[in-house]
This record gives sequence, C-alpha cells and structure tokens, in this order.
Amino acid sequence: MTRASIVGQPLPRHDAIGKVTGAARYPADLIRPGMLHLKTVFAGRAHARIRGIDASAALAHPGVVAVLTAKEVPFNAFGLIDHDQPVLCADVVRFHGDKVAIVAAETEPAAEAAAALVHVEYEDLPAVFDPRTALDPAAPLVHVTRGTNLLFQLPIRKGDVRAGFAAADVILSGTFSTTWQEHAFLQPEAGVAWVDEHDRLIVETAGQWLHEDRKQIAEMLGLEQDQVVIRYAAIGGAFGGREDLSIQHVLGLAAWVLKRPVGMVWSREESIIGHHKRHPIEISCRWGATKTGTITAVEAEVLADGGAYASTSQEVTKVATLFASGSYAVENISILGRVAYTNNIPSGAFRGFGAPQACFASEVMVTRLAHAIGMDPAEFRRQNLYREGDIEPTRNPLPPGVSAVPVFDACMAELSARGWQKALETARQSDPPWIRRGIGYAAGHKNLGYSFGFPEQATATVELWGRGEPEGARLRVGAADVGQGAHLAMRMIAAETLGLAPDLVELVTDDSSEAPNAGSASASRLTFMAGRAVHDAAAQALVRYHDSEDRQVTATVQYRPPATTPLAEETGEGIPNYCYGYVAQAVEVEIDLRTGHVRPVRVISAHDVGRAINMQQVEGQVEGCLAQAIGYALMEELKTRDGRILTPGFSTYLLPTAPDMPDEIVPLVLELADPEGPFGARGMAEMPLVPFVPAVAAAIHDATGIWLDRQPFTPERVLAALMASEATN
Ligand code: MOS
Repeated sequence: MTRASIVGQPLPRHDAIGKVTGAARYPADLIRPGMLHLKTVFAGRAHARIRGIDASAALAHPGVVAVLTAKEVPFNAFGLIDHDQPVLCADVVRFHGDKVAIVAAETEPAAEAAAALVHVEYEDLPAVFDPRTALDPAAPLVHVTRGTNLLFQLPIRKGDVRAGFAAADVILSGTFSTTWQEHAFLQPEAGVAWVDEHDRLIVETAGQWLHEDRKQIAEMLGLEQDQVVIRYAAIGGAFGGREDLSIQHVLGLAAWVLKRPVGMVWSREESIIGHHKRHPIEISCRWGATKTGTITAVEAEVLADGGAYASTSQEVTKVATLFASGSYAVENISILGRVAYTNNIPSGAFRGFGAPQACFASEVMVTRLAHAIGMDPAEFRRQNLYREGDIEPTRNPLPPGVSAVPVFDACMAELSARGWQKALETARQSDPPWIRRGIGYAAGHKNLGYSFGFPEQATATVELWGRGEPEGARLRVGAADVGQGAHLAMRMIAAETLGLAPDLVELVTDDSSEAPNAGSASASRLTFMAGRAVHDAAAQALVRYHDSEDRQVTATVQYRPPATTPLAEETGEGIPNYCYGYVAQAVEVEIDLRTGHVRPVRVISAHDVGRAINMQQVEGQVEGCLAQAIGYALMEELKTRDGRILTPGFSTYLLPTAPDMPDEIVPLVLELADPEGPFGARGMAEMPLVPFVPAVAAAIHDATGIWLDRQPFTPERVLAALMASEATN
C-alpha cells in the first residue's frame, strides 16, 4: 500500500468478525469457574438513615463467603469531579440505586438469594425530587454537610441584555423541559477482578477511560496507581454511561479484600437502576430580534436535576449554559445555569453532554423568532450563525475552523436537491385526512475534548522496526474502543503516517499497564486527541528510524491541544473549548392525528468532520447516533415516582427498533480541515444528537401548527397538544 492511501478508505474493523460471530469476549464472558459471584444490595429507598445492617442470615446461607459493607472500604468516597459518592453507604442512602452491601458467594444463585437476606434497618428521611423544590431553603438537604442543594451555578454575561432587548422589534419567551435518558448499551455492567502473583489488583471490565478507573480504584483502596491494572474487554457501547464507576470499584474492592477472584454481571434492571442518566434540564428563555433579522439579546435560566451525587453535573451544566444561546453570534447575553442535588438517580454524561437540551430551547426559539419577523428561518439562521472570529458568550473568539454556515448551507442545499419539499406536497394530496406531514430543520455545535481548563492531553507510543525500510510497528495508546471504531482509526492514522499497511501495525490499547494514557473515550475527542498523539508519535518514530542505525526505535508523544481556561465566577468569561464540531439536520415527519404517533420519514444529517479517517465509520456513527436521537426525541421516557424508577426494563422503557428508523438517512459529510486535528480530522460522534429534537419539533410544527416544549414527543403528548390547540381554535 502506498502512502496517502489509507486515511479515507472504508477499511473494515478488525473486531467486526468477532462481534458478528459472537466470538468477541465481553466482560461477562470472562467469568471463570472458581470465581466468587457478587451481588449488589441496593438501598431501594430515596433517602434514609441506616440504623443497622444485619448480615447474619445472609452469611448463614450455603455458599456465601462474605457480605461487604462500608466498614470494608478503605476510602469510601469517589466521583469523577467531587468525591461525594460512597462506594457502599455507611450512614445515609440518597437514592434508590445507592449500594449498601455486596454479597460474595460460590454461585450466582447463592449470591442472589443471600442478597435478599441482608437485613438493613432504615429510618426514612424527607426527600426531594425536583430541582426547583430542592433549591427552596426549606427543602430537605441531600448532602447535609454542604448546607445547600445547589450543586453548582454559573452565570454567563456578555454585553448589555437590557439594551439588547430595547433594540429588538420582537421579543419572544419560552420554557423547555427535557427528561432523563438511559444509555441502554447492549452489554450491561459486568467484569472480573483478582490479585495477581505480583500483588497487583487486576480489574477486567468495560469502561471509557482506563487510567481514570485506575486512579479512582487505587484511591479507594489506598494503593499506588501502578498496583492497579485495568483491562478492557470488548465494550458493547458506552455513550457516557460508563464514565462514572458503577461496578468497576466494587469488583476491585471485593477481590482485594477477599483475595479471591470475583465476577459480577448486572441484570438490565440493575443497570437501569444503578448507573447515572442524561440530565433533565428546564430552560426558560427570552430572545429578541430586529425586523431585519439580527438577534439582539438572549436571556435564559438553565436548571438541571443533578440527582443524588455530583458525577459530571458541573461540567454538563456549564455546557448547557454556554450553548443556551445556540450557535449564534449574539452581542447581549445573560444566562444563569444551575444544577441541584435531588434524591433522584444521579445525572451525568450522555452523548451530547448538555448540548442537546440547550439546542432544543435555542433552535425552537430561533425558528419562532424568524416566523415572528416574517423571515425565512433558513435565511434568519444564515444571518446569525457563527463565523470565523466571532465572539462566544464567554467573550473569547471561537477556536479557528468555524464551519457553522457551510454545514448549514450544505444541509439546506441537499434538502432542496432531493426535492423532499415537492414530494411532501404531492404526498399531502393523497394522504388520508388523519395524516399530517412536515419538514423541520435545526443547526447546532458541540465542543470536542475537555473544556474549561481541564488539563487535556493524550499520549501514544510507537515502536518501529525493520531491516532496511520499516517493516512493522507497535502502537501503544490507552484509548477505549466503546464500539465507535476508535482502534481502527488509530491504526489507520499510524499506518498512514508510517507508510505501512494497517495489518503491520500491532495495537496495544486495553491495558493500563501496557498503554499510555490517551484520555477518555468521551466528548467526541479520541480521533482528534488520541489520533493526533498517534500521528505525532509515528512521525517522530519514523524520523528516528531514518536518522539512526538502530533498526528498532521508540517514540512517545504527549499531545496537548490549545489551552482552555476555567470560566470566571461572576461573568463566565474565559476560553471554554479548543475545538467545535458543527452540525445541521433536516427531518421529515408523518403524524397520525388519531394516535399522536410521530414517524420520522427522512433525515439529512450534515457534519463537518474535518477529515473522515474512515468514511464508513463516520456514516455508521451518524446512523447509530440518529437511532439514539429518535429515541430521545420521540419515545424514551424514564418514569419515576418519588425517586423509584418505574421503567427498569426494555418492556417499559421503550427504545427505537428497526421499524422505528426512517425510510432514508442521508449522512452528509463535509471535510473542511481542522487546523489541529490529525490529517485535519475533528470529532463528530455526539453531534447527530444535538439538533435532532428541535428539528423534529419544527417538523411537527410545520405539519400541525403546534409547538411542543416537553421532550420526548410521545403520542400522548402530541395528542394532548393537538386537542388543546383544537379547543382554543
Ligand atoms: Mo461522553 S457524554 O462525552 O461519554
């Protein structure tokens, strides 16, 4: 294979065959005979004091080896940002999925039977289930020692909103609410752990960041980091749901304390009850514009339900606050973002990370404003969308490579070239009277990589050997392939840079002791960040190889992107991000007025990916993400009552399946090189989720004249809105 021929090729994934045949080993496949089986004892109540734990009946059950409680945890507090979550609760439980004890037994049935025999005496405490009530000074405190349920807040202020509204010809306001979303990855949490002959704790599981899991588990046990080894098996999806520790630390704890190999597999119900969800967020906002189509002011209040523990709530809230004014150059902005503790399930990372919630509000407001001033919403967007050099709400220029306008234009050009509008008018002629059709569109952007001054880096090592010309290489990069194809992208970037066939590049990616830290598989960052580290390490190895007589050379490179900063407490001023991915979508829907059912018929999803390392993988990400976006927009609804999840299975928490997918998905991929990314690549994996909900809202409005402001747009809600609008007409 010659150079410059690998990047861009639709090469197949090296893990594809194993996944299709079932040969791939997922964490649950690693459980071996002789391992102890673990079972979690969940709190099963929203807020209560633990009066006592009586494990005697459980311990007396045949096959039971131990019942672990808080007493066995050396450092009983963890979390990605705040260490506010106990591994096992000692005195108080704060949500239904809190863990109180772990039963270890010789068989799985014994562990399960004994878990039901662990008797915990509780005294129920007053609880709070919505963030607004939680912020009332009279509300019960979720974390008493904090003295408040306010988990985090951030004002972002730019210009003078009063002057901005005074200059407006039209001012509109709206309130938008979103609810939880479950990650629903195919493989529920599972893993194994043991202590090896060097007294190292080995945890084999699925996650998104080897080295962060290692750090948190080492801290919990008071071990040096290199005494803990994290290995990832095949990972069946993550989507942010494996960013927080769920069972990884429990496996490590049990293996370390009991000095026996252990394994655990969560059921789907345990998975839904046990791991965090996407944040429910309410956004109340006011937007002003002139008759000539300039957005003059945006004022908004963003309020998120953080649930019982901090997880990544602060960061998600910062993103939702930063994005509440959309992808538009607005001079006058005043936004207050807040997130509150409640006794609900913790909220945390989920594909989009605060941007989809914000985009729902901003894009519906933009379409409504355009209608109000009598301007075509596409033209209105073009006038206001971010351009190179524009200033963000945080008062800094956008990172270079702003492609909001070309991406939006490409989406609209595709919509017109495909003649969907004409076809829709024709279809309307022959539709039965209970069917309505409409087309909507929306634009958005999303940061890639860590924001707000987090020390962002990725490290890779390339070993290169040969006799004359290079003949083979080994790439060490601790980057999780959560199903997105990261490992293939890394291999292709290395092969392209080294001038080797991809098969000649060996990968070492899934062991924290064998591969350097490339950061997490999150924030759409791996292709850009780890990819750049791989590229730079490969380039350096190649130079060394040619400059020396050594026929085996090694190069390690840590890539650091352009710096970001924390945001100022009073104004939000700062440099939030080093790169954005831009997206625009158009969707046609069909609505059955008898049932309220909304069917997405056709979707265009336009993206600037800088450079597609592997076009087939990029298109796969667009299609997969759209399935998730369709669920989020139309179906998925986690129901709770007083903190208890009422939909802990896929029979009640409804996900889209094949028949729910549109007839046609058009992934439209622009390659406008990013100045920093490897071969110009930038991240794209979260972006299809960002503008989809408002695009569907606009399509429903186009079809029926109603605006929905509560996600998801379930048949019940659509029907109720249709009936309410009939009643007022
Ligand atoms: Mo994520 S939501 O950046 O895994």
